[in-house]
Amino acid sequence: MTVGIQPRTITVPKRLLLGPGPSELDPEVARALSLPSLGHLDPAMVEIMQDIKRLLQYTFVTRNEATLAVSGTGTSAMETALANVIEPGDKVLVGIMGYFGDRLAQITAKLGGQVIRVEAEWGKAIDPDMIIARIKEVTPQVVCLVHAETSTGVVQPEIEHISSAAHEVGAVLVVDTVTSLGGQPVKVDDWGIDVCYSAGQKCIGAPSGLSPITFGELALDKINKRTTPVSSFYLDLNLLRNYWDSQQYHHTISAPLVYALHTALDKIQQEGLENRWKRHEINQRAFLAGVEALSLDLLAEKDHRLNTLITIKTTEDIAERTIRQELLNDYSIEVGGGIGPFQGKLLRIGLMGYGSRREFIIQLLAALESILRKHGRPVPEGCSVAAAMKVYETAL
Ligand SMILES: Cc1ncc(COP(=O)(O)O)c(C=O)c1O
Repeated sequence: MTVGIQPRTITVPKRLLLGPGPSELDPEVARALSLPSLGHLDPAMVEIMQDIKRLLQYTFVTRNEATLAVSGTGTSAMETALANVIEPGDKVLVGIMGYFGDRLAQITAKLGGQVIRVEAEWGKAIDPDMIIARIKEVTPQVVCLVHAETSTGVVQPEIEHISSAAHEVGAVLVVDTVTSLGGQPVKVDDWGIDVCYSAGQKCIGAPSGLSPITFGELALDKINKRTTPVSSFYLDLNLLRNYWDSQQYHHTISAPLVYALHTALDKIQQEGLENRWKRHEINQRAFLAGVEALSLDLLAEKDHRLNTLITIKTTEDIAERTIRQELLNDYSIEVGGGIGPFQGKLLRIGLMGYGSRREFIIQLLAALESILRKHGRPVPEGCSVAAAMKVYETAL
């Protein structure tokens, strides 16, 4: 019997990935993917994994011993965070300002937690005072927040104040940093975050499939005092730690993904976290100057804009879909579209990790400008690139 498919070597187009993730790979990270395979308990593999743990502590700015990478995408880290700290019946206060806050609420409900939603209109940050007031009123066991909401390009401010309020009532604070870790400030210990997770494929600059996570003492204490077992085998923190720290087989980690994550984290260490945050900040400013020159409107308000993901409102005269298709077909550039209430109304541009680079920004602005002119917008020739270059000239 045959499946009727002719043998062939697959080819994939070369894209410039400037969407909400995955982001562009550094060529060295891409090369690491093709190193020879190793067994998941090989001493050489164990050494690389121990390095990853230390590099993750550096990237999360934490001393937490319980720091590792979950085998799976960002959602698996999200589920690991919640499945370990939430017990059925726990009151879980969830901050929701977009798609991923809502996902936190959905997972909480599946785990039997009582969801208490604190919401902001999509496109706005949640008022920290409102979260703090609700924490005092509800006295939850767990508080969950998204630091960088990828669906809207909004950053949640004042995590450290929210953390103090959570700790006053004995709650564990879980924070999603999928679109911020390695791109803009995240300081787990200083901000008092008890469980923090991310994903490989955004500002870390690795492929998707290994997702960083860290647990502090308060979270570990809650896990140790559980009266019900963790419902997942694959995501049970104690089993994962036995594998990462004591080499007890739990699952077969992907060797190429381990090499790539190591290389990507090593790049972060070489660049230095502060320099990396600064690079993302300057590139965001340059891109925004170009966007402003094109007379395009942004969704997120000035004080709550991410440096790593920019959301541009589209209008009916040129459909979002048209812009994205032309960027892809004519320039081989991928950007994201809107989701949820912003479906068809938003461009989502990721300037993350290796992708946050001057030459990519200039390329994207030039392409956007030409698409807008083609569709009749009165945009002066070269205006966006010139505006971005001005930022670079003064930023140096
Ligand atoms: C803020 C946030 N949380 C969680 C996730 C889920 O990550 P993944 O798609 O890797 O499962 C994403 C993905 O974009 C995200 O942006």
